[in-house]
Amino acid sequence: MKSLIISSSLSETSRSFILCKEIQELLEKNGVDTTFVDARELELLPCHKGMSQSMQELSKQAGDADNIIFGMGVHCYSVNDGLKIILDNCCKKVEGKFFGIACAAGGEKSYLSTMHLTQICMNEWRMIQLPRIVYATGKDFTDDKVSSPDVKERIKLFTTEFAEIGKKLIS
Ligand SMILES: Cc1cc2nc3c(=O)[nH]c(=O)nc-3n(C[C@H](O)[C@H](O)[C@H](O)COP(=O)(O)O)c2cc1C
Repeated sequence: MKSLIISSSLSETSRSFILCKEIQELLEKNGVDTTFVDARELELLPCHKGMSQSMQELSKQAGDADNIIFGMGVHCYSVNDGLKIILDNCCKKVEGKFFGIACAAGGEKSYLSTMHLTQICMNEWRMIQLPRIVYATGKDFTDDKVSSPDVKERIKLFTTEFAEIGKKLIS
């Protein structure tokens, strides 16, 4: 199984990036072949401004992957800017794929913001979501690592379920 992890935050101190990295580590331990894309390393151009080489490469990686994990930060109760560019431009070949969401937010009450990503993926590409989200806020991190036992446990459950269901959906 080939899983693509897209960490879409453009923040130098991104917390969703940390979530994505911890998820990648556990997926690899579960024998999953992962590809990690850090949006900060891409040249992201807004819609209608063409596709950079790195955006074309990401489109191909998204098409080649069996399933996808999106890392997002909450911006104004919705998806972050980098993710919107990726969704609008680099997700033409993700029809029907299984996906999961890892989300970092400033506050505990913004958890429904991930529903915008759910709506886009389900309505636009009929993707199927793992019904468990990793959601964390600043207090769940210490020294650039997840320190909250609850979030750690959720990451474990998320990765186990993502690997199990993901494998079933491609066999
Ligand atoms: C433009 C902007 C809008 C934001 N809006 C919200 C919001 O509506 N709700 C919230 O809980 N946090 C909000 N935040 C805080 C971010 O979700 C938080 O910093 C999170 O760590 C971002 O993810 P990242 O660290 O991976 O970039 C906002 C941050 C920015 C920069």
